[in-house]
Amino acid sequence: MLSLAVLVSGGGTNLQAIMDAIASGYLEHTKIDLVFSNNKNAYALERAKNAGIPTLALSPNDFASREEFEAAMLHALEKVNPDIIVLAGFLVKIPKKMVETFEHKIINIHPSLIPSFCGRGYYGLKVHEAALERGVKLTGATVHFVDEDMDTGPILIQKAVEVKEDDTPKSLQERVMKEAEWIILPEAIKKLEKERA
Ligand code: GRF
Repeated sequence: MLSLAVLVSGGGTNLQAIMDAIASGYLEHTKIDLVFSNNKNAYALERAKNAGIPTLALSPNDFASREEFEAAMLHALEKVNPDIIVLAGFLVKIPKKMVETFEHKIINIHPSLIPSFCGRGYYGLKVHEAALERGVKLTGATVHFVDEDMDTGPILIQKAVEVKEDDTPKSLQERVMKEAEWIILPEAIKKLEKERA
């Protein structure tokens, strides 16, 4: 059985895609043991609670320092000790110590074809604004392993999505989620299931 901890900050549509893939039997040897968020109001937490999945929300503002928040987050994850940590719309930079503790066990979904439109400052709608600004005809999503930098770890899976003439950042984001993110994230986990479960 592949044990996951899923880290979220927002709506949780990628978390939902994993939950749906487990429910449908596409991921038959995977379970989500914790959904963690830095944002107590993340709707992703509601999705997890509705499915009976344990949740934990720790806000950096609740700690005297960034280091204490990071230590609490790491401690919570070490207690669960998942096989894989999935960053699904998680907007916190992963501390070096966490990357080392869970070496080659952290994956991230990024809404572009890395190495385009990634790294510092490229998240959420900003990624799609940049793609439209550059005028690319194809964009998409990438699942990659997380290393100590931003969006730079080894790539696991990518899926391309056509950019349409009349796309807005919002319409492009929605298509990339629907036609790429929600497909390749469960696919990447299935690949890891085969290798590690
Ligand atoms: C998505 O665009 C994802 O690619 C990015 O964060 C956004 C929010 O995802 N990493 P979600 O709906 O919270 O899963």
